[in-house]
Order: sequence, then structure tokens, then C-alpha cells
Amino acid sequence: MMLILAVESSCDESSVSIVKDGKTVLSNVVLSQIDIHKVYGGVVPEIASRHHIENMTIVFEEALKQAKVTPQDIDVVAVTEGPGLIGSLLVGINAASAFAFAHNKPLLGVNHMIGHIYSANIENEMKFPLIALVVSGGHTELVYMKEHMSFELLGETQDDAVGEAYDKVGRMLGLAYPGGPIIDKLAQVGKPSYVLPRPMIDEDSYDFSFSGLKSAVNNMIYHMKRKEEVVNVEDMCTSFQASVVDVLVSKLKKAATDFDVKQVLICGGVAANKGLRNRVFETLKDKEIIIPSMQYCTDNAAMIGAAAYYTYQQKGPLKDYILGGQSSLDY
Ligand code: KG4
Ligand code: ZN
Repeated sequence: MMLILAVESSCDESSVSIVKDGKTVLSNVVLSQIDIHKVYGGVVPEIASRHHIENMTIVFEEALKQAKVTPQDIDVVAVTEGPGLIGSLLVGINAASAFAFAHNKPLLGVNHMIGHIYSANIENEMKFPLIALVVSGGHTELVYMKEHMSFELLGETQDDAVGEAYDKVGRMLGLAYPGGPIIDKLAQVGKPSYVLPRPMIDEDSYDFSFSGLKSAVNNMIYHMKRKEEVVNVEDMCTSFQASVVDVLVSKLKKAATDFDVKQVLICGGVAANKGLRNRVFETLKDKEIIIPSMQYCTDNAAMIGAAAYYTYQQKGPLKDYILGGQSSLDY
């Protein structure tokens, strides 16, 4: 039995989780800063680091308490080392290192993206080969896995992440932050009446681009306002979402077919999107589709604990307690 204490602080969620054997989540405490960053319309890195400092001991204590374990019971301490906001990462890393050092436990750095992928292994069992679509506020990636801890990055966004594009379009339409969930809701009631591009949909690659789509929305709103035409917000949400879902699902389908996979995983905050979920189930009927429940889709430490179990088997613990944060980190 391996009891892992996992720490996540790469963006604006401070989280600690206790996970048994990479599978059973004994506790998963998440303190989100969304309300704090809302007034700025996005995450402000300096403010995020400061709040991680305030929240970190609270989430540590609460996670141990909820799991009914003591620090002595922990076998391995795991922490997100990147990719993410450097100031935010360092708070989690320092807290995890201090905890591990003080209690004489091994320390392990975990890749946040591997965490997002392994969130799918908590409530379900990964079956290989598989394709994972990781879609969040910071990332849009298609990853092929032929076995545990084997990652082939097939494609990624060349500019904005899909969640970032949602949030920016939300801002253009005067919606609150984060715009993603609000656009998703309004998209259910509007009509796809505005014609928007489907960037890179016909290109023979698994890469994405969302910055041009975001600009297309911006230009359309600008020209309509100049002509004193009223922008129908619901219709714009439906049109934007239709374009995003068309592109994501078309690339996902191509990858799932080309690699003849057993399973398709959709992970990250944007996996909550109803339009995306519906279309994936309609389009990939012959594949097993795994979408983790919402608590494991958005940033959380349980997914880091799930990934840590396999990362530990591959890499073992650090030789010392020296671990730096990495704003970008490959698989
Ligand atoms: O994974 P996550 O919590 O944090 C990052 O690592 O970025 O993802 C947050 C992102 C935000 O951009 C948010 O707008 C988006 O996920 N999001 C959604 C939906 N729910 C959250 N985007 C589209 N539709 C949704 N239902
Ligand atoms: Zn994330």
C-alpha cells in the first residue's frame, strides 16, 4: 500500500489530497481563488502566489484531517513541479519539500499535464492504447499513450489555449470571468447564426489554433457595433462554441482513428463543456470515452496523487529535497 500526499498550486487553486495507491482518494481539498481574480477578468500571477501562501497550510491540515491520517502515515510526498505560473508553483513546492523533509519522507515532482491525464484513472481504468484530449485554461493538447507513463504529444495549440479563448470571448461579450461555463450555458439556447472560421480544421496535423477565431469574434462585434447593429450574445456563444467543438472533435476523431485506440479521454476544465461532451459521444460511438467528474477535471491535487503513483514507479524519489518550479515542462 502506498499513501501519497499530493500538492497542486500551479495556477489559482491551492490543493492537497491524500491518495491511496494512485486510485483511492481519501481527501481532496481545493481552495479556489476564482472570486479573487474575477474582478481583474483573469488570473493575476502575483496575487495568486500571495493567496497560495495564505491557503497552503489550511489545505494541508484539512486534507490530513479529512483523510484521518497523520503525517507519519504518509509514504511519499508529491508536488506539481510544472508547467504553470512560477510563483504559484514555488509555494506548493516549498510547502511539500518542507513537509517531506520535516517528516523524513521521499519527495517527488509531478508534471501537471500528466496529472490532468491521470485524473481519468481515478474513477475509471485506463485502457491502452488511448488518446487524451487535454483542454483547459492553459493547455490544448492531444496525447497518445501506448502504455502507462508513455506520452507522445501529437498536437497542441499554436497560440491560445481553448479555455483562454473562451474566457477572452466571454470578456468581449461582457460576461463574467471565467467566461467558459457561461458561454457553454448561453450556447445551448442560441442559434449558430454568425459565420466564424474553423481554424486548422482541414490541415493534415493534430495542432490547434484559437487566436484567429477569437479575433474573428472581436472583429465581428466591432463592425456590428460601428453599424449600430445589436450583437445577439446567445447566438454569438452558439456560433463560437460550434466552431470550437467542430475543430476539437474533428482532430480528436482523426487521432482516435489513425491510432486505432481503445479509449478516448477528455480531461481539464473545458471537459465540462456540454457541447463538447455531446458531440464526442455522438461522433466516437465505437470508442470507450472517459470524462472524469468535474471535481477531477478542474485543477486539483488528487490527479497529482494519481499521476504520482506511476511517476514514482518510473523515476523513484528525488535524491535530495531540492526541487525547482518549471513554467514549461515537457512530458
Ligand atoms: O483545468 P482548469 O480548471 O484550469 C487550468 O488548468 O486552466 O480550466 C479552467 C478553464 C477556464 O478557462 C474555464 O473557462 C474553462 O476551463 N471551462 C469551460 C467550461 N467550464 C470551465 N470552458 C467551456 N465550457 C465549460 N463548461
Ligand atoms: Zn490544469
